[in-house]
Amino acid sequence: MSDPIIKIQNMNKWFGDFQVLKNINLEVEANKKIVVCGPSGSGKSTLIRCINRLEEHQEGDIIVDGNELSEKTKDIEKIRAEVGMVFQQFNLFPHLSILDNCTLAPIWVKKMPKKRGSRTSIRPT
Ligand SMILES: Nc1ncnc2c1ncn2[C@@H]1O[C@H](COP(=O)(O)OP(=O)(O)OP(=O)(O)O)[C@@H](O)[C@H]1O
Ligand SMILES: [Mg+2]
Repeated sequence: MSDPIIKIQNMNKWFGDFQVLKNINLEVEANKKIVVCGPSGSGKSTLIRCINRLEEHQEGDIIVDGNELSEKTKDIEKIRAEVGMVFQQFNLFPHLSILDNCTLAPIWVKKMPKKRGSRTSIRPT
């Protein structure tokens, strides 16, 4: 098996005194689709924001495509270009569909053909 595209080991994150992420361990293979679900406020968005370092974690390791994320990480913009996220609520474009909001960045930033983001790619298998 090839190395996971995302690997998180014993990761902990606090906001002040509040520990929002506790001992997170996760491996995601390239091209795998996974769902992270949980109650509102359980830390799903914070976890995703840590994976492109919009938030900093205090303990453990986050390795994205072989790059360990830390204060020493160089070229964070390059890593962020590969770790897309769709924001919630008012950060979405209200005049676009869910699919359009999700495919906007790959099409405009990564110049992916529109067809690759077509409905067939999100149809349940
Ligand atoms: N910048 C911040 N400073 C302090 N606390 C924060 C910050 N961002 C998030 N939190 C808190 O961290 C917890 C997790 O928030 P997060 O937004 O990650 O949850 P979520 O699982 O994505 O929720 P939702 O399902 O509502 O999107 C919440 O208690 C939230 O209030
Ligand atoms: Mg959220």
